[in-house]
Amino acid sequence: MGLGKIIHSDKGHLLELIDEDVQSVNVIKTKLREQSKEAVPSKKRKKNDGKSVLDGMNEEDFRQYNQAKDRVREFYKEQHEKQTMAYNLQARINFKTKVRARMTVWDALCELSKLIDESDPDTELSQIDHALQTAEAIRSDGKPRWMQLVGLIHDLGKILYFFESEGQWDVVGDTFPIGCGFVKENIFPEFFQGNPDNSHPIYSTKLGIYEENSGLKSVMISWGHDEYMYYVAKNQSTLNEQALAMIRYHSFYPWHREGAYRYLMSENDYKMLEAVQDFNQYDLYSKGLQRYDLEKLKPYYLELIEEFFPQKLIEF
Ligand SMILES: [Fe+2]
Ligand SMILES: [Fe+2]
Repeated sequence: MGLGKIIHSDKGHLLELIDEDVQSVNVIKTKLREQSKEAVPSKKRKKNDGKSVLDGMNEEDFRQYNQAKDRVREFYKEQHEKQTMAYNLQARINFKTKVRARMTVWDALCELSKLIDESDPDTELSQIDHALQTAEAIRSDGKPRWMQLVGLIHDLGKILYFFESEGQWDVVGDTFPIGCGFVKENIFPEFFQGNPDNSHPIYSTKLGIYEENSGLKSVMISWGHDEYMYYVAKNQSTLNEQALAMIRYHSFYPWHREGAYRYLMSENDYKMLEAVQDFNQYDLYSKGLQRYDLEKLKPYYLELIEEFFPQKLIEF
């Protein structure tokens, strides 16, 4: 099924614009956090070559960050106000009650890349470049095959934007739990004031509808490309628990970077946290490392997809 018909031309451009800004804010915020921890050396905070990730930070990074901030502010205002329990329940009902397309994983990757690139002449990097760079960085570090596949597909859920979404706010951006109090570790926490759940008698309390340490599995995370792709992969792949956590929580920055929402975590979630943090450095820092030849890498990744997605055609 071709998606070309259902989109209008600048749609992908708008998504790419805000997604790049959101990501650049996360790169800089993460680097600043690394900087503040620099006194404590850690293997985790180093890149492959042993240099600190901070070595790549310069004035240009800060300039981009400041430019991005205004657009990102507006984006989060809308996202924080509209990600309600009611919206999130409906999004899951929509997800479960229809199949939007049947495609192979590889075709979906190409389709997503095409949809965004065609409508965004300014994009520096296509979706498939980011997918391959993340996967190749993971592969060159000798990480397991399942994690390489996560690198390849972690953003594939953005295809949701071209099927059914109300805007950019329900596809990209940092994610956070729904059904319990919004915390200050979220980006622009002041914007939650405009969310009706923020004055709900239960949803506005610390634990909300959840029990202390009941585990993230039972927690509803704001709807977007992460959550959508998690369900697609959970239902149709043999990927393990860590892999699914990487897909599901990679934009859950208040949790994996800011250390919030610990009271919702189970013992097992700490293992997931480690996995997600490990993955995050590849997602953030593999950009621009190297441009790969799609056709050369295709056979390797087709085999990798086949290994974990037993059905050729995936229901999106
Ligand atoms: Fe993502
Ligand atoms: Fe990504």
